[in-house]
Amino acid sequence: MYVRPAAVAAAAFLGFTLTVLGGTTSSAATGPSSSTGPASPTGKTGPLGPVVYAHRGASAYAPENTLASIDLAMRMGFDWVENDVQRTKDGELVVIHDDTLARTTDVEQAFPDRKPWHVKDFTYAEIATLDAGSWFGAGFAGTRVPTLREYLDRVQRNQQRLLLEIKKPEIYPGIEEQTLQVLDEAGWLDEGHVQRRLVVQSFSADSVRIVHEMRPDLVTAFLGTPTVADLPKYAQFTDRINPWHTTISADWVTAVHGLLGAHGRAMEVDTWIVDDPATARKVQGMGVDGIITNAPDVVRKAVLGAFAH
Ligand code: G3P
Ligand code: CA
Repeated sequence: MYVRPAAVAAAAFLGFTLTVLGGTTSSAATGPSSSTGPASPTGKTGPLGPVVYAHRGASAYAPENTLASIDLAMRMGFDWVENDVQRTKDGELVVIHDDTLARTTDVEQAFPDRKPWHVKDFTYAEIATLDAGSWFGAGFAGTRVPTLREYLDRVQRNQQRLLLEIKKPEIYPGIEEQTLQVLDEAGWLDEGHVQRRLVVQSFSADSVRIVHEMRPDLVTAFLGTPTVADLPKYAQFTDRINPWHTTISADWVTAVHGLLGAHGRAMEVDTWIVDDPATARKVQGMGVDGIITNAPDVVRKAVLGAFAH
């Protein structure tokens, strides 16, 4: 389900209002699949359902990959947020999904002669002038593309956890090491963060392997759906396999769970992007460990509802 921004604004507001009126806290509102209680090294408590990840923040209700989107996720009661990391022309790591600025900023108006507006062709000073909120809704006008450091500091301030995606690393040589450096400088590579609050993922197996080799203590995930026969190769350098939900079956999830990952624990599966209740319940039935969603409130309600029947 694609949730149109204008159509969901009222729902988001209502969800937030109900959360506040219900007197819930950030962690309690997340429910049994939240981070409350003693966390496993991967941060999953999971006996009552999949962990819910706010994909690019609460991106059905606020502009993706912005501080506004993670603040909203926090207010809605979600501590796990997902983001995408890329690099500017002058070497600043920024949080944005596409490798061009066109879809989620006003770059075409601001820099009309710079087509195709690749992130890698703009300095951060230039990107910092762009409006990354108006495309989503007038109420978000003036929202900026955050640097990774700004983003980490906000996740920290919000007491949230981060599923960090290294996006299109083939465009950005050395981005794995640089990402780890920024994480370290921001205090995100200490034991507490590594054990409970951070997962690094990529569609690039090479990138995941590099991160694992540089920081063997980090939990990592590979984005994709390897064949069952190939899974043991991935288990050598990663802890999780995170597939598109349309590509999986219960048998495949079971096969992943049957392997020990890079840290000697059963491998896990966090699937994406699930925004409707029926699909959420379907993948829950397959036994996934986590669901990555633009509409975390919808998924939380669906997976918790499964225990009411
Ligand atoms: O976290 C999974 C998901 O983000 C992968 O797809 O394109 O939204 O980065 P994409
Ligand atoms: Ca992503």
